[in-house]
Amino acid sequence: MIGKRQSVREFQTRQLDESVLNGFVRYEREMLALYPDIPYQLEVTCNINERHGSGLFAVKAPYYISFLTEESQEAYLNTGYVMEELSLYLAAKGIGTCYQGLLKVCKEKNGLKEVLVMAAGYPQKYLYRTDKTIKRLPLNKLCVFKEEPSSELMTILKAAVLAPSSLNGQPWRFVVYNNRVHVFMQKVNTKIPAMQRMRMIDIGIALNHMMITAEELWVEAELKEIDNISNQSFKNNRYITSLFLKS
Ligand SMILES: Cc1cc2nc3c(=O)[nH]c(=O)nc-3n(C[C@H](O)[C@H](O)[C@H](O)COP(=O)(O)O)c2cc1C
Repeated sequence: MIGKRQSVREFQTRQLDESVLNGFVRYEREMLALYPDIPYQLEVTCNINERHGSGLFAVKAPYYISFLTEESQEAYLNTGYVMEELSLYLAAKGIGTCYQGLLKVCKEKNGLKEVLVMAAGYPQKYLYRTDKTIKRLPLNKLCVFKEEPSSELMTILKAAVLAPSSLNGQPWRFVVYNNRVHVFMQKVNTKIPAMQRMRMIDIGIALNHMMITAEELWVEAELKEIDNISNQSFKNNRYITSLFLKS
C-alpha cells in the first residue's frame, strides 16, 4: 500500500460499507500509537446529506475523518503516525483518502482539538497510483550516509520517502548508519503555526512508513530520542528521533 497509495480527490457519493465503519472502532482500540499516552479521538462525519466543514484547499468528499488530540510536537507526530496507518488500512479496503491540512469540521470535543482532517470515500476514478514516476526527492538529496546501510534499513528509508506530505514538502532528512538512522525535520522560515504543525504531522507519517516496513521485514525496530543529539542545535534541520534496528 505504501508504494501504491496516492491522494484521492474525487469520490463517489456513496456510503461506506457497514464493515468498514465497524472497522474504525476496532482500529481505534487496537492501533499502537507512537505515543500511547497521548489521548486522541477519531470522529467520522458523513457529508452525503448535509455539507460539513470549511477551509482552504478542501476536497469535497462523502466522509471527513477528524483526528482530535492535544497540541504539542509529540501529539502532531502521533497524529501523522496514526492517521497514515488508518489511511493505508483504508486504501487496502478500496477506500481513497486525502489529508486536509486546513479543513475544520468539528474543531473541539472532550477538551481535544481537531488537528487534522482526512477526506475519505470510494474513489471516482483511480484508487492507486497510475503513473510510474512519483514526485519525490531522491534518497541522495534526503540522506547523509555515514556508513553503508543494511539492506533492511535501505528498504525502510525507501518507504519513508514515499510518505505523503503537506504541499509535497517532504521535510524529512536522515543521517544514516549501518543499522540506525537519525531523523531530522528541515527547518522552514515560517511563523505560521499551521505550517509548523503540518510539517510535524508529515514526519509522523514518514515514521509510520518506517515502522510498518520494519514490521513487514520481520526486523525489530525502536524509535528513541538521543539526548546528546536533541541537546544540539543545527542550522537547517531540527532533530526529531532515531530509529534503531536490533539484530
Ligand atoms: C498534513 C497534510 C496536509 C495536506 N493538506 C492537503 C489539502 O489541504 N488539500 C489537498 O488537496 N491535499 C492535501 N494534502 C495532500 C498532499 O498534497 C499530497 O500528499 C502530496 O502532494 C503528495 O501526493 P500523493 O499523496 O498523491 O503522493 C496534505 C497532505 C498532508 C500530509
